Amino acid sequence: MSASAPHADSAFVRACRGEAHDHVPVWFMRQAGRALAEYRAIREQHTFEEVVHTPDLATEVTLQPVQRYGVDAAILFSDIVTPVQALGIGLTIQPGVGPVVERPFRTPGDVDRLRDLEPDSDVPYVLETVSQLVAELDVPLIGFGGAPFTLASYLVEGGPSKSYTRTKALMFSDEPTWRRLLDQLADITLASLRAQVEHGAAAVQLFDSWAGALHPDDYRRFVLPHSRRVLEGLADLGVPRIHFGVGTGELLGAMAEAGADVVGVDWRVPLEQAWDRVPTDVALQGNLEPALALGPTEALLERTREVLRASGGRARYVFNLGHGVLPPTDPDQLRRVVELVHAEGAVVTEPARG
Ligand code: CP3
Repeated sequence: MSASAPHADSAFVRACRGEAHDHVPVWFMRQAGRALAEYRAIREQHTFEEVVHTPDLATEVTLQPVQRYGVDAAILFSDIVTPVQALGIGLTIQPGVGPVVERPFRTPGDVDRLRDLEPDSDVPYVLETVSQLVAELDVPLIGFGGAPFTLASYLVEGGPSKSYTRTKALMFSDEPTWRRLLDQLADITLASLRAQVEHGAAAVQLFDSWAGALHPDDYRRFVLPHSRRVLEGLADLGVPRIHFGVGTGELLGAMAEAGADVVGVDWRVPLEQAWDRVPTDVALQGNLEPALALGPTEALLERTREVLRASGGRARYVFNLGHGVLPPTDPDQLRRVVELVHAEGAVVTEPARG
């Protein structure tokens, strides 16, 4: 299965699997978007939702950073809330705000507003975009989805949150409803990810962006089993599974245990220490502080070198930022980071496994 997976010989897929390859691969979370003038030009003509729902536009926007930065992988242009939005729950994505839910999910009955996702009929535009991209790209395409906790946080809070108070209140006060909600969200994300892979995505990333808000014991009890439902549900497809969250330094081991091949690390955790927190057959992805790209080039490149040094020449390593590209970033800065990673990012220590 794995030998015939798309782009099995690319540096990116080989790094995700800890197999020997010739250079450290690099891509950036949120690489498509407002840092690029060519993206803003499209957004002047179309809303975010129009871009996501129109395969030609979503394809173009996905390709923009590949052309501009020379990264080793593309990430589908879409959003973590796109599948739940397609179920007609009254969710919109507001510019400068993020996902907003008209009637937030607060009661047991609210869970019944969700149903299983049928990718072919609910999100045909996503699958058509994946197919177009796979036909056009020379590099692997990363599909992605939202992890149950992070999706639940938007549905329960009704929008972005800093404290996740209502989400945690539901989790601690009504465990049966919480588990029903998270299982339903897990099934939606799993169906979406399986369809993306079936249409040619070479890897998937599960974004649990806000899981870092939880104590490790609560993460293990209330969240991990539901994220595992997604990650293990993908195992038979044979593509690498990346699991990422922000502020998850204390959760890296648990996020690996949930069934990830690669764990994403944010910029707060020294990469040298992150290696000790995951098993030796799990790869890491990260973790340059994204705000460094807003400062002088010299300091940005010096820190890029430090992150490369901290990767220790391991094969099981993918260079990335510690979170998404910040909108005011000058794209030339990121292009220089890619050039440096490609010029100096040597894979030295681990031979191919298996
Ligand atoms: O990485 C990429 O380039 C692929 C595209 C992508 C988007 N969202 C496009 C987008 C991906 C992978 C996402 C995932 C996503 N969406 C996450 C996980 C990643 C992370 O940041 O941790 C989350 C939490 C969301 C929810 C969401 N959608 C937020 C917080 C926002 C930002 C609101 C804003 O405008 O600041 C969105 C909207 C969104 N998704 C934009 C983009 C390019 C901005 C829309 C625009 O104005 O063009």
